Amino acid sequence: MDSIRIVGGKRLVGAVPISGAKNAALPILAASLLADGNHVFRNVPNLRDVHTMTRLLDRLGARARYSDGCVQVELAGAIDPTAPYDLVKQMRASVLVLGPLVARCGRAVVSLPGGCAIGARPIDQHLKGLSAMGADVELRHGYVEVTVPGGRLRGADIRLDFPTHTGTENLMCAAALARGRTTLTNCAREPEVEELAHVLNKMGARIEGAGTSVISIEGVDSLHPIEHAIIPDRVEAGTFMVVAAATAGDLLLRGIAFEPLQAVIAKLREAGVGIEREDDGIRVVGSHVIVPTDVITQPHPGFPTDMQAQFMMLMCLAKGTSRITETVFENRFMHVSELNRMGADIQVNGRTATVRGVEKLQGAEVMATDLRASASLVVAGLVAEGTTYVRRVYHLDRGYEHIEKKLVQLGAQIERVPGDA
Ligand code: UD1
Repeated sequence: MDSIRIVGGKRLVGAVPISGAKNAALPILAASLLADGNHVFRNVPNLRDVHTMTRLLDRLGARARYSDGCVQVELAGAIDPTAPYDLVKQMRASVLVLGPLVARCGRAVVSLPGGCAIGARPIDQHLKGLSAMGADVELRHGYVEVTVPGGRLRGADIRLDFPTHTGTENLMCAAALARGRTTLTNCAREPEVEELAHVLNKMGARIEGAGTSVISIEGVDSLHPIEHAIIPDRVEAGTFMVVAAATAGDLLLRGIAFEPLQAVIAKLREAGVGIEREDDGIRVVGSHVIVPTDVITQPHPGFPTDMQAQFMMLMCLAKGTSRITETVFENRFMHVSELNRMGADIQVNGRTATVRGVEKLQGAEVMATDLRASASLVVAGLVAEGTTYVRRVYHLDRGYEHIEKKLVQLGAQIERVPGDA
């Protein structure tokens, strides 16, 4: 498996284009199952998870092709609504095909995603919603089998126990073709949920309220294919903000708006980082003094759990002690032991990590079992003294397009090392 080799200590300066958002592309690709015909999606990031989704769509009977930032999905004829374990285990977000399949085919057989590195991550809320819409749900041999008597879901009032992100997306897709009106309460408010609603409406759906905690969906009889460009990735942008902050650099993040990053920007400003709007993006100027800053992760519009590892890495360099509390996932601190191996001083007690700032980090061989944890280790390598090897690059490739190429252009000394070198 490839590694990333980084020689730390460079100040990073320049402009970086922000890629299309993984977490917007995946549900949109899955939603294409709702309409026959030819869909064209642009600004799709070249990521392992995107390729897993196109393979899954192929397996279901669609024809999905990725080429140069564009995915074409052709749907004509029969769909086999079975999502097999070998693909679902590679990417938990495969569960996003569940809602579209049930809506389109009146049944679906989807492998349970199982445990993953950042906690148990059940899908009970997705299933509760489908049951309320009239589906029969059974768990058999590691698969969830959903059947809709009569073939078509019916609208329902559904209150989610937790504003689950992919759960809200699955239920929105399911309700789009249901008979009658569905009201989803306590929904996820992430920008990607709003984007999916926008896409579904472009396809002919009737959805209101996405981006708030109550979404109302008037089911329609059919949807049509569309052309659409994916929004920029706020987590990639947030990660580059931390890169600028940690290296006392000066970066222009091209193509990203302020609004989806408000919570991250507020915390980085509290930490002493300079952040300004520019005509074509956001400029981030790091300071040599990082102010210790406490963070509690929360569903949007709170501080995103997907930025927790990167922010914690930055706090390792602060002048004092910070507390980082993770409330969204129960086990999302895998980066802590690796950062400590690089000389950080972090102690975890339950859901809170206490981070005492240190003078410097030291290069080391590290690895992580999660996408954002891996990103935090790459940023750590950029500021550490000496050489860092980040192993299991597989995780980074799931969510960061051309990360080492982008960093090299900003002045980093970073390269991909093939195999186990
Ligand atoms: C999505 C994002 C992921 C992000 C996460 C939280 C995608 C493809 N992935 O993941 O990057 O980290 O949101 O912002 O968009 N839960 C239940 N029952 C359910 C569903 C969720 O208990 O039916 C729990 C989970 O175990 C977890 C919490 O709710 O503790 C949040 O999960 P959720 O919002 O569903 O995350 P994902 O949609 O999987």
